[in-house]
Formats: sequence, structure tokens, C-alpha cells
Amino acid sequence: MFFVISGEHPTLPLGELTAVLEASATQFAIKTDAFKYVEVNTQSDVAFEVGKRSGYTDEAGVHVFTCEPTLDGIGRAVNETGLSEFLSKEESFNIRVARYGGVTKEISRVGLEAILGDRIARETSAKVNLTSPDKKFRGIFTGSSFHLGIIEYQRPKASIANRRPRKRPSFHPSTMVPKLARSMVNLSQPRPGDLFLDPFCGVGGILLEACLIGCSGVGMDALPRMVRGTRRNLAHFGLASLGLIEGDARKLPFREVGAIATDPPYGTGASTLKSTTRKILDEFLPQARSILATGRRLVVASPLGTAASQSADDSGFKVLDRHLVYVHRSLTREILVLGAV
Ligand SMILES: C[S@@+](CC[C@H](N)C(=O)[O-])C[C@H]1O[C@@H](n2cnc3c(N)ncnc32)[C@H](O)[C@@H]1O
Repeated sequence: MFFVISGEHPTLPLGELTAVLEASATQFAIKTDAFKYVEVNTQSDVAFEVGKRSGYTDEAGVHVFTCEPTLDGIGRAVNETGLSEFLSKEESFNIRVARYGGVTKEISRVGLEAILGDRIARETSAKVNLTSPDKKFRGIFTGSSFHLGIIEYQRPKASIANRRPRKRPSFHPSTMVPKLARSMVNLSQPRPGDLFLDPFCGVGGILLEACLIGCSGVGMDALPRMVRGTRRNLAHFGLASLGLIEGDARKLPFREVGAIATDPPYGTGASTLKSTTRKILDEFLPQARSILATGRRLVVASPLGTAASQSADDSGFKVLDRHLVYVHRSLTREILVLGAV
């Protein structure tokens, strides 16, 4: 399979993609990771599901070939690949070529699209259809290679923009943007049928993404107006959580949940209710550990410098992964992926 991931963050898109692949119980190995292009060796056909689920994946599909990035190299690869295995003569197709990571512009993209379109049509007897083809080929130049694939998933235009915080009926400045929130849910690896918990849910930025991928989401916030905000925001997208509770996340009223992703208050945008982020984490994390089975995950954001990993270590978690997200001059978020040990 191949994936085109977002270039907007250096580590989160690949971290999220890896977490989603792991959660899909697919045997896989990441073969190439060249800036936005990721190639994955696997026998499973999960490109569509994995692409659709990941916040930072723009495109996903079946890998056809990789070759040297010259016209000769591409011509040889077309000859050597049985393209009729990928496209039958009854099907129509188009091809679009992209370049990632500032690679050489020696070969014109449009020119190559015409050449490859012609070659694929000759090899397979399939017809070109530029506007609504049965299959869409994608050519990609990365540093030292050219890759050809068939697209199975493309993020629908405006799907993220429609969920922007300001587009939701209930807004709060502390809320999280959809891609980051989706990636946090995915990093927590909820399994089908699991209860997913956000115990500091605010107006529901994270919970919304969890419910959108089919989790049974449960939210909790100390402030009733935040709980009301989450309910309104979920309803706006035709969703409902399994339960929304007004309460203190330092006293969790649950026996067991499958995964947790959360963004506790920092005392700037969202109130810590006279506490501090670190104190809240010190009291919340042991509680969270007691409702997660060993091996399950908790993903938590906090301002860099909170020393959340220390608190996690002391509470029976192991830090599995760490991402830094710059927000503005005085805030960089540290996202920790914690495994219950
Ligand atoms: C950073 S916001 C969460 C934003 C949320 N992830 C979103 O995308 O909308 C933190 C939330 O924690 C809530 N909060 C503060 N202390 C709490 C506590 N002890 N228990 C539960 N919620 C608390 C605040 O009211 C605030 O809504």
C-alpha cells in the first residue's frame, strides 16, 4: 500500500498512521518513509479504511511499482509490470503526478501524465477518462524514486474545514482542531466495541473525532456548560455519546474503559479550577491507570515543561511515544502516548 501523509507536522502523521495500522491487526512493515510518501508492505487490503480513519492521511492506495525517477526508468517499469493485473480493459482510468519534498523538476508533470496515460492505455486496452474514471493512478516523485499507485482513498474536500472549531455550534478557545484531535484518538488505539473516554472533554473536540470513527465515546467535564457544549457539538454532526458526565476527572466513576485521549486544562484557555496542570495529572493518572487494562493506552496533551512523563512513570504508565506541537510563542504542546504497564 502507499499513503500520502500531511507534511504539516514532522512526527505526528507517521506516528498516527503506524498506530492505525497496528490497530487494524494487519501484519505490516513500513518500507519507505520519504517526507509525505509512505510505502507499507502488507498482504492486507486496508488502505481505504486506514486512510479514512487517519486525521493526517490525505491519500491511500495500492502500490504498483517504484523505479528510478527518469523517463527511461519509468518506461522500463511499465514494461516489466503486468499492468493488466491492476486495470482491466473494461475499466477507465486517469493519472495525476505529484512531487514531494522539493525534488527535481526535470520531467514535466503534465508531460509525464500524457506519456504514462498513453502507455497504460496501450498496455491494458483501458480507456482514459479524465473526469470520472473507474481507477485513478497516482505518480509520485520523491527524492531518489518515482512511485506509481492506484488511489483507493482521498480525503474529501472540506471534510476537515466543516469541523473547524468556529464552525461548531459551541465554541471555546481551549478546544482542539480536528486533525490533532483525531490523531490523539488514533494514537490511543481504541478497538471496536471499546468505551473511549475523554475525562476533560471541554466542548468535545476529541470526543467528536472518537465518535466519528465509531467509538462508544464517554465524556466528562467539571463545568456543566462545557458538558452542554459537547452535547450540542455532537448533535450538530448527528452523533451522541454513550454518556456525558459533569464531574471531576480526579475521581473517575468508571470500572473499565478501553482507551483514553485527553487534553487537561493548562490554566490559560481552560480553568484548572485553582489547581495546576501537573497536580491535576498527578491525581488523574493513577485513577486512569486503575480503569485501563494492562497494555491499553492513554494519550495526553500538556504544555511542554509540565513533566507529564514523570507523572506518568509514577502512575504505572510507560511512555511509548512523544510528539511536540508548536501552538504559539508561549505554548508548545507535548503529546504523550502512554501504555498501561
Ligand atoms: C483544554 S480543555 C479540553 C478541551 C477539549 N479537548 C476540546 O477539544 O474541546 C480542558 C477542560 O477540562 C475541564 N476541567 C478542569 N478541571 C477539571 C477536572 N478536575 N475534572 C474534569 N474536567 C476539568 C475544563 O473545564 C476544560 O473544559
